[in-house]
Amino acid sequence: MGIKPFPFSLSEVRQLLLLPDLSDSNVISCIKETQKNFTSCRESISEYVTKAEHVSSYSLFYMPTDFPKLSLILSQLGSTLIKWFEESKLDIYDIGCGPGTFSFAWRNYFSTSDHRFHLIDQSQDMLAQAQRFSSDLFCLPSFYTYQDLSKFTNEKKENPKVVIFGHSMNEMGTRAVNLYLNKIQPDFIFFIGPGTPTVFKLFMNWRRDFSDSFQMKVLYPCIGVGNCPMVDSDDWCHQILRSKLSSELHQLGQKLSIDRRSVPFIGHVYGKNKLPYVEGEYTLVRFLGKTKFSWRYQACPSGATDLIELELMKKASSKEQIDLIMSLQVGERINVKVIKEIAPDHLRVAII
Ligand SMILES: C[S@@+](CC[C@H](N)C(=O)[O-])C[C@H]1O[C@@H](n2cnc3c(N)ncnc32)[C@H](O)[C@@H]1O
Repeated sequence: MGIKPFPFSLSEVRQLLLLPDLSDSNVISCIKETQKNFTSCRESISEYVTKAEHVSSYSLFYMPTDFPKLSLILSQLGSTLIKWFEESKLDIYDIGCGPGTFSFAWRNYFSTSDHRFHLIDQSQDMLAQAQRFSSDLFCLPSFYTYQDLSKFTNEKKENPKVVIFGHSMNEMGTRAVNLYLNKIQPDFIFFIGPGTPTVFKLFMNWRRDFSDSFQMKVLYPCIGVGNCPMVDSDDWCHQILRSKLSSELHQLGQKLSIDRRSVPFIGHVYGKNKLPYVEGEYTLVRFLGKTKFSWRYQACPSGATDLIELELMKKASSKEQIDLIMSLQVGERINVKVIKEIAPDHLRVAII
């Protein structure tokens, strides 16, 4: 589906701000102050969420320019997983949701899916701002807000859960992130953060120390198996969102001397080790040989980095499917249905 830009104009956003009459010069001075706190006075980092004019300014400038990051990440995940997201009933938890940026981006991407949204932020003003955008612009079908974890109860009906930390892990820190994860027990985690070496380190340290305890494996962006080669070097890995901005947004950026046409960011996606989408699309990476009953391949599940053994079972194949199997080449993608799980990394399957 590709990158999805923010679908509304700046004036449509402006009229829904907590302070819709905020002048451009007020917006600019608030954003400059917030920027300063993000980069140099980190002890004041959380102040911008307590003032309506700062919340309004943040929402006006950052929501439309950060919004496409989620679609960029989603467009890199395998089509089987995206289809599974589309067709499943999901609970989406947007933690440190701010004005609702990534809940809205998720809704915009999966516009017809049956997903429930839980927006969590310690700032009442941010939640109020998200509520306004939801009512008038994005119309989230089921929308719950929470200011802290004590108000938060797990839903009785268990849907698979997706948790998004959008530019919030770098504010709340790893301990708070893990408290949320322990409470929610998600099936998928999206971490999105500014593209800086510090945030890269923060995300990678979380991966090293906690991904195993939450039984999470990397789905994006790493393509290899094993350790990240960047971790022990001075280098770091990030994505770049390149957007065409509307002229009003570009002008606001120019006044602020912040170029949002090209934004470095870090996006990491994790999925539970054992998920229903193991039935699906695989890329064949090595032919392991033929037995009396099957053709054995090493394969890589779409959207994941683990290698597994697939046994394409003769008995479960029609004549046409056998012809297809005989002509398969390494590098080809196939869709399969699981007949028997011998081990998590060894499946007996039928080609579909
Ligand atoms: C930089 S904003 C990001 C907002 C939004 N996710 C986005 O990307 O546009 C970070 C948000 O995290 C919230 N936050 C920080 N610490 C938090 C915590 N411990 N619990 C909930 N929200 C928190 C802040 O109030 C703020 O709204």
